[in-house]
Amino acid sequence: MTALCETMRRSRGHDLLRFLTCGSVDDGKSTLIGRLLHDCALIYDDQLETLERESRRFGTTGGDIDFSLLLDGLEDERQQRITIDVAYRFFATAARSFVVADTPGHEQYTRNMATGASTCDLAVLLVDARNGIVAQTRQHAFVCSLLGIRHLVLAVNKMDLIGFAESRFVEIAANFSQFASSLDAPEASAIPLSALMGDNVTRRSDRMPWYQGPTLLEHLETIQITRGGDKQPLRFPVQWVNRPNGEFRGFSGTVVSGSIAPGDLVLVAGSGRSTRVREIVTFDGLIERAEAGAAVTLRLADEIDIARGDLLADPRDPPEFVDQFAAHVIWMSEHRMVPGRSYLLKIGTRTVPATITALKHRVDVGTLAHLADKSLALNDIGFCNLSTAAPVAFDPYIQNRDTGGFILIDRLTNETAGAGMIAFGLRRASNIHWQSLTVGHEERAALKGQAPAVLWLTGLSGAGKSTIADLVEKQLLAAGRHTMLLDGDNVRHGLNRDLGFTDVDRVENIRRVGEVAKLMAEAGLIVICSFISPFRAERQMVRALIEPTAFFEIFIDAPIDECIRRDPKGLYAKARAGQIPNFTGVDSPYEAPEAPELRLGTLEIPPEDAAAQIIETLRRRRII
Ligand code: ADX
Repeated sequence: MTALCETMRRSRGHDLLRFLTCGSVDDGKSTLIGRLLHDCALIYDDQLETLERESRRFGTTGGDIDFSLLLDGLEDERQQRITIDVAYRFFATAARSFVVADTPGHEQYTRNMATGASTCDLAVLLVDARNGIVAQTRQHAFVCSLLGIRHLVLAVNKMDLIGFAESRFVEIAANFSQFASSLDAPEASAIPLSALMGDNVTRRSDRMPWYQGPTLLEHLETIQITRGGDKQPLRFPVQWVNRPNGEFRGFSGTVVSGSIAPGDLVLVAGSGRSTRVREIVTFDGLIERAEAGAAVTLRLADEIDIARGDLLADPRDPPEFVDQFAAHVIWMSEHRMVPGRSYLLKIGTRTVPATITALKHRVDVGTLAHLADKSLALNDIGFCNLSTAAPVAFDPYIQNRDTGGFILIDRLTNETAGAGMIAFGLRRASNIHWQSLTVGHEERAALKGQAPAVLWLTGLSGAGKSTIADLVEKQLLAAGRHTMLLDGDNVRHGLNRDLGFTDVDRVENIRRVGEVAKLMAEAGLIVICSFISPFRAERQMVRALIEPTAFFEIFIDAPIDECIRRDPKGLYAKARAGQIPNFTGVDSPYEAPEAPELRLGTLEIPPEDAAAQIIETLRRRRII
């Protein structure tokens, strides 16, 4: 989040309204915002001058000032007449201050819109009176409601182009109110206006005497925002533990909801530990109460174990604490979301590994229909089950945007891959406990007189994985070791017979095999796994499942040309003839290991030597 967003998030004064504008490219959104800024006299003189000059050059308004140029910052956008990216503007009237987040109208920019919307209280949805509600209006309204915006205003623009006809406005407004009633936004209203001419934007129009409601600005100035921030229970995510010297120990962060005062009892969510606040320290010294939005350091009465990422809460109304929950997810990455893949989930100040365990449905944002799907593409919205590596504290997003919202981070690229809004915890998860068992993997392995291990052979089809795996197992067996061999082709006849070769299926293939290999290692076995396993992320996921000293990633490396030449199963020929889609190395990627425990080039050495090197490595590492 930008520093500006952060500042906005923190400024929670009641006199500040944060709103979002959304609309299609030609609805006149930039003109509307320009008009608001201009009429509120906040356009600086020099900006005005440039504007007049630019209007003559690019303008669509004859000699008049083209207000849309104020906002469409970049030259090429200006020529395409599309705004991309979120722009924030401040303006103020005697009644209130405003921050307007201007988000792109372009269909593909749900991602940007979500970025802008997550800090806003109200959304202005712009439509062209000639077109009325279009699919995109519904889409924007849905995303706004999903992001917790409770107030929607439909600005029916370009009334001048339909002769200020009341009947058309009434029709559009009715249409909108019907759609809005199916959303989670309690308040929706419509205003007829002309951004270009100024009717009903800041000045009441005498050309629409039939309209009795407020102008857009009046509406923005007077609307009562149901934010509930102060009535909410205390939530204080610990940003860092402040320990400048042995005497002082404080917990720094921002109060995201509720308020706190010395003497108050606070609970470390999920731990059962609680204590009282001794004092609240700020830059300006001690304070008697910290409200939502305040960045403070808390000193507590008792020395209890609290770390960065913990959530301090009101013990009378604690957050939930689970490791599985259901959430809406907006996908923001060019790379498709893959159920089963490990992402980092950042909620508040806490970051934990997480996977999407199931995509329950994808939402058709135009119709709100629930569609069955296997993954999400950029800008898609889905309802998912997620599982985190450790329990996290949260409130449902609808109750608290700060403690109910999260982002998913791609572990390889570090980019933000998705944004999520938690709906509810999955109780099922908290009803399953670990059964503690007396016999562990060490006892089981000791009985077999060996140390368990997982040998993970990865490489292209035809690189020689299965041949080498077979040789290794034979030699281990001859040496009296207990082994098991899992091979891609074989496992796909049984456990994984339901899986194909799409990215999504391959990830699930490796996830299951990883879990099986882990169980077998716990049984005390030396497990040899032979799978293409083309993605780094999943090989990393399997590695993380196994004891570090017991996992061996072995790259069976042969150039693709050599694999095609060998083509032991005749599959490359078929794939190249277009008969097998998604074939690794042909039209599906292979990500070579960056730091495998062992790399064996099968162009350079025969399978027997490769197997011997593996056995030697196991000896050296004292597995055998
Ligand atoms: S993985 O990518 O999911 O790890 P896995 O190792 O289980 O693949 O299975 C690969 C084997 O399936 C190959 O050795 C080959 O015999 C067969 N196969 C069939 N179709 C494909 C395909 N589209 N891509 C790769 N291998 C395929």
